[in-house]
Amino acid sequence: MQFKSLPGFREFYPEDCAVRNYIFGRWRETAQRFGFREWDAPALEPLELFTEKSGEEIVSQLFNFEDKGGRKVSLRPEMTPSLARLVAARAGSLRRPIKWFGIGENYRYEKQQRGRLRAFYQYNADILGEAGCAADAEVIALCVESLRAFGLEEGDFRIRLSDRTLWFLFLESLGVPDEAAAVRVLAVVDKLERVAHEGLVEMMTAALAGTPLDPAETLATVKAFVALADVASLEAFFASRAGAEKARERLEDWKKLLALLGALGVGGFVRVDLSIVRGLAYYTGFVFEAFQTVGEGRALAGGGRYDRLVAKLGGPEMPAVGFGMGDVTLRNLLEERKLLPQIVDAPDFYAVVLGDENRAAALADVAMLRACGFRVEYAFRDGKFGKLIQAAEQTGARYALIYGTNELALDVVKVRDTRERREIAFPRKNLAGTLAEILESGLPVVEAPHCRGDGSCGGHCTCGKNGA
Ligand code: HAM
Repeated sequence: MQFKSLPGFREFYPEDCAVRNYIFGRWRETAQRFGFREWDAPALEPLELFTEKSGEEIVSQLFNFEDKGGRKVSLRPEMTPSLARLVAARAGSLRRPIKWFGIGENYRYEKQQRGRLRAFYQYNADILGEAGCAADAEVIALCVESLRAFGLEEGDFRIRLSDRTLWFLFLESLGVPDEAAAVRVLAVVDKLERVAHEGLVEMMTAALAGTPLDPAETLATVKAFVALADVASLEAFFASRAGAEKARERLEDWKKLLALLGALGVGGFVRVDLSIVRGLAYYTGFVFEAFQTVGEGRALAGGGRYDRLVAKLGGPEMPAVGFGMGDVTLRNLLEERKLLPQIVDAPDFYAVVLGDENRAAALADVAMLRACGFRVEYAFRDGKFGKLIQAAEQTGARYALIYGTNELALDVVKVRDTRERREIAFPRKNLAGTLAEILESGLPVVEAPHCRGDGSCGGHCTCGKNGA
């Protein structure tokens, strides 16, 4: 019987791991350039951490169970509640603003489809302790630069920027009576792109039950609001609406944020798009998603401000903003755009040991070269020269180091270029220095006019004889 991995879980063969490490490397480098420090937390957490904080959609997707001690636990579907707990626990002693990033595997029991899996990696970057929109600008700029680090450009993705604060103020001005009803209306907004008109009216009717508002009329106003795609149009929209003073004030924050994004050089990636409201319950202010504009148009990242989460987890009032970026849609996009580099996964050198009596000397050199930082492999078993050279070539090593009885008698090693199939002997003394030069500049082309093809060159030409 052959065992298979669970649906929605990936296995990583070495070539997949190499790609994964490349993606993590770019994320890490970019976050560090912005001055973010790395953190992590357990993948298994108390169930409560998510049932209280993440909102219904994610709770329905939890991988949860009871452990052997009777504790209700869950694999993490996201990292934000863990981050808020870590920060809450040390809020008094952490230097602010707190700028942290993390990379970890998350688990959601979702219907498996292209771009959506049950286990995926997510890169999170968050700023805590800063309420002003300078922090929002910094995380959005980091989100953009983290995608640009792979060679993605303006034609490839957009940041769709929206604002739950503005939404709440707008719904208040419409007469939506309380936050609970407003959250229900936002759940309808979240479906605008995916559900037909009749379905939306039905959902709006349920959302507005118990209020005097007309569902079809409210839906029409909501759609008109969502169609506004720049701050000037939003200002004009609110100018004539009664009860919308606070919304007009909020638009000043919008102008500040957009100016900061322009100054940080990422303005061209950002679009005002009020259809983004985010499914997670904890968001309070500006929210955004990075969407690919080519191909399937999937979300590459999502985030926003969540000013109340740290306090909800027992910490002090602590404003916060951040994003999460998944590896699945990103990798698909990089593959489509042919932006994944050829990842070289080959040793620098392959030692060809001819005869077991020469193994000890060869392995001493192998160990010395490894200690110097070179990647070196060798065959575990003795074999014929041709077979061993073939094995060297198959590893992708550019150079084979040949240790035969003749070479060792002269205290030299023959370095063979596996592509050009050319060899030159070099003293074993200072071998690491010699090989470093060869890696840098290639095997030297040595003129050996006195060689008669019989080894009289002393191993310094292509005759293949070492002069012994
Ligand atoms: P999210 O929108 O649920 O936000 O996820 C962010 C990103 O994670 C998505 O845009 C997508 O790239 C990836 N992702 C989510 N679910 C899956 C899945 N099932 N398979 C593959 N990729 C997936 C959050 O998780 C927030 N905690 C982000 C955040 C951090 N907000 C503030 N700080």
